[in-house]
Amino acid sequence: MKKIVIAFIGVCTFLSCKKEEVYTNVALVFEKPANFPEPDYDLNSNPITEKGFELGKKLFYDGKLSSDGVVSCAFCHQQKFAFTHHGHQFSHGVEDRVGKRNTPPIQNMAFQNQFSWDGAAFHLDLFPIIPITNPVEMDETVTNVLKKLQEDAAYTRLFSQAFEDGKINADNTFKAMSQFMLMMVSANSKYDKYIRGEKGGDFSVEEKNGLQLFKNKCASCHTSDVFTDNSFRNNGLPINPEINDLGRMTVTLVEEDKYKFKVPSLRNIELTAPYMHDGRFGSLNSVLNFYINGVQETPNLDPILKNTNGTLGIQLTEEEKENIIAFLKTLTDEQFITDKRFAE
Ligand code: HEC
Ligand code: HEC
Repeated sequence: MKKIVIAFIGVCTFLSCKKEEVYTNVALVFEKPANFPEPDYDLNSNPITEKGFELGKKLFYDGKLSSDGVVSCAFCHQQKFAFTHHGHQFSHGVEDRVGKRNTPPIQNMAFQNQFSWDGAAFHLDLFPIIPITNPVEMDETVTNVLKKLQEDAAYTRLFSQAFEDGKINADNTFKAMSQFMLMMVSANSKYDKYIRGEKGGDFSVEEKNGLQLFKNKCASCHTSDVFTDNSFRNNGLPINPEINDLGRMTVTLVEEDKYKFKVPSLRNIELTAPYMHDGRFGSLNSVLNFYINGVQETPNLDPILKNTNGTLGIQLTEEEKENIIAFLKTLTDEQFITDKRFAE
């Protein structure tokens, strides 16, 4: 990997040089996987460095970001499960308060421009404010978080190494967290190796059929090798009257956005159960059964799911369903979930 060295040399006065302040910060090169589209995130606006990444990682794993000192980002976003909260239908935050949405994975964030199921944030740098201040997640204020960080010597040192102005402020905090999340690229699954013609990418007949079916029936929404078109759509889930989550409309207040949710990426999907914005399905089999015979005519149902013969959903035989599931499992990326760079 190409490395550029940026040196911040300590200040010399006419009396002495503060040698202990001499250190180097190294630029980390963000490599776009060959089969991926161009990143959405403007990497020039926040150049990723070794120290910035290290700081972002420390913040991601630190309970200081929450009011009870326990709930860190990683509490809900666990690496083994592609940074989701395994086994939890809804997220659980401070004092075990329960949210109303399922925790999505954090992966390939550089290639997305809408965050949350309803797109509450359109920039990754703005995202952490949401969980930090959400009463059922971290229930803290940004001012308090900054105060806690300013009182911590390890953070004072890391901020001064990671950023030229060395300030412990919201801007630098969120930029460092983005640097960590931007590097979290999942692009070494069996599928990637198949597509790039690399070793370890031999697809079975079932997997090949599954990929073909996926391209025909699913890829219009789960698009490109990021497996999302970054749009909001209603895929016809029956409305849950208890929660009545309006989805995208919560943000835009526009009636046409009612019940539309972010098209999720399907990478590492085998590891991220339960599925959908409210975690209503426990298995891929239930998800596929839903597309085959569970799609409902709800307001703003996506036209792609309305068939010319008047039926709704995606018609698949039992065998085709099995093939699609076999294909989806090729999106599991062992390297990503065991990569030490992202581990605590
Ligand atoms: C209590 C559990 C919980 C904690 C703590 C938490 N998250 Fe999340 N995260 C969620 C849930 C739930 C969502 C979906 C939110 C929504 O759609 O309203 C989410 C969404 C996200 C997304 C958007 C992913 C996408 O594909 O749209 C990112 C990025 C993210 N979280 C990063 C973080 C960071 C950084 C922190 C720490 C500052 C954090 N999360 C803390 C549960 C949590
Ligand atoms: C019309 C667009 C569209 C089509 C076509 C479509 N999906 Fe989806 N898919 C979505 C949306 C939107 C969601 C999220 C819905 C929600 O949570 O409310 C979703 C969610 C999913 C999820 C759950 C992901 C998660 O992280 O919880 C899986 C798995 C999935 N789709 C697989 C498929 C498969 C396989 C096909 C083809 C058989 C397919 N989808 C076709 C739009 C679509």
